[in-house]
Amino acid sequence: DAADAEKGGYDYFMHKEIHEQPKALRDTMTSRISSENDDIVLDQIKLGKDEMEKINKVYIVACGTAYHAGLIGKFAIEKYARIPVEAEIASEFRYRNPIVDEKTLLIVLSQSGETADTLAAMRLVRERGGRVMAITNVIGSTVSREADDVMYTWAGPEIAVASTKAYTTQLACMYMIAIHLGLLKETITKEYADRIRLALLKAPEEIEYVIKQEERIKEFAYKHFKVEDMFFLGRGLDNYVAMEGSLKMKEISYIHSEAYPAGELKHGTIALVVDDTVIIALCTQEELFEKMLSNIKEVKARGAYIMAIAQEKNKSIEREADEVFYIKDTEDDVASIATVVYLQILAYYLSVARGCDVDKPRNLAKSVTVE
Ligand code: G6P
Repeated sequence: DAADAEKGGYDYFMHKEIHEQPKALRDTMTSRISSENDDIVLDQIKLGKDEMEKINKVYIVACGTAYHAGLIGKFAIEKYARIPVEAEIASEFRYRNPIVDEKTLLIVLSQSGETADTLAAMRLVRERGGRVMAITNVIGSTVSREADDVMYTWAGPEIAVASTKAYTTQLACMYMIAIHLGLLKETITKEYADRIRLALLKAPEEIEYVIKQEERIKEFAYKHFKVEDMFFLGRGLDNYVAMEGSLKMKEISYIHSEAYPAGELKHGTIALVVDDTVIIALCTQEELFEKMLSNIKEVKARGAYIMAIAQEKNKSIEREADEVFYIKDTEDDVASIATVVYLQILAYYLSVARGCDVDKPRNLAKSVTVE
């Protein structure tokens, strides 16, 4: 039927959308790279150097998966543009009387551009004189109409409730904005910006590499589909990717899961680690790699079964983890884009193995337009 035709040979929209990510990312990035000097050109963003000088506070506000992209945006903007950034869930932000004035920049992320709480957060900031920049996937959406600046993710329509290509294209937008702001504020050098941009432009290939490991992830999923609990551990950016991986898992496979900053394990969660507890350890941050190795040793000593994700250069992970999946060597900062694809595929196959309705999980809607 028509729906099957739209799935283009895939069993589920989510599977199709996972596979569309290299293209979605290329579409999102290449239109913003100057053919003259390869610089990032964000024509849509009218916020200029003078206005940026005035900004003393940035909030990134969103819901669900978009919020997880916002956390990574916070990391990148603080690192490159040296402005304090708070990332917050829209339904929390709107009810806590946040400090907002004309020196505030709000960045909202919303695939649909129609999420009620995100819209309310935007309106609150605009009423108090702040400036709003929106990252959305839908042209003409309410968010796109009400924002001062709009940057589109060119992901194409996303049908599956669980967001995949919208998230990775949101990450690309967040990095481009962070580099752009860093250059505007002169807090990063042109050379540094070039380095990150080049790494970013390789993300589509890195995702293709991850997708090639699909059979192995599927095997892992079919081996472990009966688990009822799972933990995702990471440090730094990996902690934020862990949050997204855990959300995906809950949404479509109904496996209870928790994401935890690995360094915080000792303060509670490790009490839940017993024989055969499945732990997904994200170890893609070169700078934090040794720290992750010690955390893995700690949970292994309690009997956990560990699946790790690391950059190819860090082969020593094989001594500690039970199963290792690699991403291609890259800059730590942009490793998240490829890493999350493993977690999307893992959630997908666990959902299929458990006989769940992958594209339409129970109780969930694609877009939450009421509170
Ligand atoms: C719902 C969807 C999620 C999405 C969130 C925010 O919960 O199921 O996939 O991340 O809303 O949606 P938005 O359209 O604002 O990105």
